[in-house]
Amino acid sequence: MSGRRLELPARLQLLADWVPRGAALVDVGTDHAYLPVWLTLEGRLRSAIACDLRSGPLSRGRGTAEHYGVLDRIKFRRCDGLAGVSPQEADTVVIAGLGGENIVSILAGAAWTADGNHTLLLQPQTRAEELRAFLCANGYAIRRERLVVDRGTMYPVLEVSAGTQNLTPGQMYGGACLIYDPLGGRYLVEQILRLQAAVAGLNRAGRPEAAQKADHMRNIMESLLELWEEWRHANGS
Ligand SMILES: C[S@@+](CC[C@H](N)C(=O)[O-])C[C@H]1O[C@@H](n2cnc3c(N)ncnc32)[C@H](O)[C@@H]1O
Repeated sequence: MSGRRLELPARLQLLADWVPRGAALVDVGTDHAYLPVWLTLEGRLRSAIACDLRSGPLSRGRGTAEHYGVLDRIKFRRCDGLAGVSPQEADTVVIAGLGGENIVSILAGAAWTADGNHTLLLQPQTRAEELRAFLCANGYAIRRERLVVDRGTMYPVLEVSAGTQNLTPGQMYGGACLIYDPLGGRYLVEQILRLQAAVAGLNRAGRPEAAQKADHMRNIMESLLELWEEWRHANGS
C-alpha cells in the first residue's frame, strides 16, 4: 500500500458509495480507473476488473493503479463493453461517463446483466431517457435513482437489477424515482428546456413527420410539468 490518498469527484463518490461492500466489480469505460482504485484502497472489493475500449485510457488507468500501489489487485482488460468479461467474474457492473445510447448497446450485448445475479450502477452523460426506456423494455428495473452535481453539471445515477417496471413517457425523461430528490426540480426544468429547444428545431424543419414528433414532445413536456408540480408539492416549495 502506497499510503497515498485519492479524492473522488462527487459523481464518482456517489457511485462508489453505492457499490456493495465485498463486491466483485467490473468498471466499464474505466479511463483513469479512479473508481476501482479508490474502492480497492478502501478495502471494499473482493475483486476488480477495469475495462476500456481504447489502449490510451487503459494505460492511464494502469498508471493510476501503480501510483496508488494497487496495480496487482486490479485486472485491466481492453474490450468493447462487457465483451471481455464473463458473468461469473462480477456481481456489480459500473458503467459511468458514457452516453445513454452507448450504455444501451453495451447492455444489449451482455444479456446476462439481466439474469438476477448482477447489480448495475449506471451514470449516463446524455440521453438518459433512452437508457430508461431500454431498461423497462428489457427485463430490468430501476431500484433507485439520484442526481448529483459535479463541476456545475447535473448527472443522474441509477441502480438497476433484473425486474419489471413500467414508466410513463414523462418518467423516461424526468427520472424513475426522483420525486424526493432535492435536485429533482432543477432536473425536470432542464429536461423541459431541452425538449423545448428540440420542438423549436422541429418546427423550423416544417416537415409533416417533424410536426408529429413535435406534438409527441409537447405531450412529454406536459407530463414533465405535472411531475414538476408533484415535485414542488412533495418538497414543500
Ligand atoms: C468519459 S470516460 C469515463 C471514465 C469513467 N468511467 C468516469 O465515469 O469518470 C469514457 C471512457 O469510456 C470508454 N469507452 C467508450 N465506449 C466504450 C465501450 N463501448 N466499451 C468500453 N469502454 C468504452 C472511453 O474509451 C473512455 O475511456
